[in-house]
Amino acid sequence: MSDNKPRLLVARVFPPHVMERAARDYDCIVNSEDANWTGADVIARAGDVDAILTSARTKYPAEVIRDLPANVRMLATFSVGYEHIDLDVAKARGLVVTNTPDVLTEAVADITILLLLAASRRAREGFEMVSSGGWPGVGGWKPTQLLGIGAQGKVLGILGMGRIGRAAAARARAMGMTIHYHNRSRLTPDLEQGAVYHDTPQSLLKVSQFLSIHCESTPQTHHLINAEGIALMPQGAVVVNTARGDIVNDDALVEALKSGRIAAAGLDVFNGEPNVDPRYFDLPNAFILPHIGSATMETRNAMGDRALDNLDAFFRGDAPLDRLA
Ligand code: DGY
Repeated sequence: MSDNKPRLLVARVFPPHVMERAARDYDCIVNSEDANWTGADVIARAGDVDAILTSARTKYPAEVIRDLPANVRMLATFSVGYEHIDLDVAKARGLVVTNTPDVLTEAVADITILLLLAASRRAREGFEMVSSGGWPGVGGWKPTQLLGIGAQGKVLGILGMGRIGRAAAARARAMGMTIHYHNRSRLTPDLEQGAVYHDTPQSLLKVSQFLSIHCESTPQTHHLINAEGIALMPQGAVVVNTARGDIVNDDALVEALKSGRIAAAGLDVFNGEPNVDPRYFDLPNAFILPHIGSATMETRNAMGDRALDNLDAFFRGDAPLDRLA
């Protein structure tokens, strides 16, 4: 980079490697309190910057993008998801937008399997039984204690067979699961790896003894897993969501978890994060995590590198690899 460094608004505190690289190559204004900036907070601080490095916690709907000062030419989001940015308005304004695909695939696939096993093997109940000191009180080990659901030989339905869906499928195959999937378009055989394609989500739900959600959050996928969808699923199925909370209708899932229609759920993402529907707190068959799918040091460093690579390319005059708008 030249001595005349571009000015960058760093809208979160990212891992040290990312902050150091940003500070080396850019004149940074940093959200050093790591506050949850709103769009208005970003606008108020963007009067003198060329670009913004953001996370998915800050939303960039049409009105925020329109009100960004004209000097802001690029928005690099430290996330693979980009539903928090109005890409059409960004394109119309000439704002370049990039995301960070690929680098978090394996970490999110790992968390998918963690949730699948934790939910189906009743890890929350087991953890609470032991850590509360209550295990002796229920007689210690016994043949009928905390019987869960085995994954071996079961059908795992993958809703959204992109990079993360395929990486989760590879792990599940190693556990002896049979993979079915729905995707907007059918994959080529080398990517399918024998997985059975369903041309509608409803057809997939009918066979999914386990369901793992990996599709994008769009108007079409909003509340796709609702009461009607759950009614199609096999009795006692397991639902895992590492994608976005709004793909699931909480009323329907909570009801199904209470009745046992759905045996268990493993959830890393929620409607209205970080304000999780409190009904999940009281459901022993809901294993819930605070959106940590990509939270390994290796992955978060790689996400930062990918975002900064995109920024570097833009300021060199090259095409950023992950350009969305
Ligand atoms: C992503 O990268 O989209 C993760 O969900 C973090 O926002």
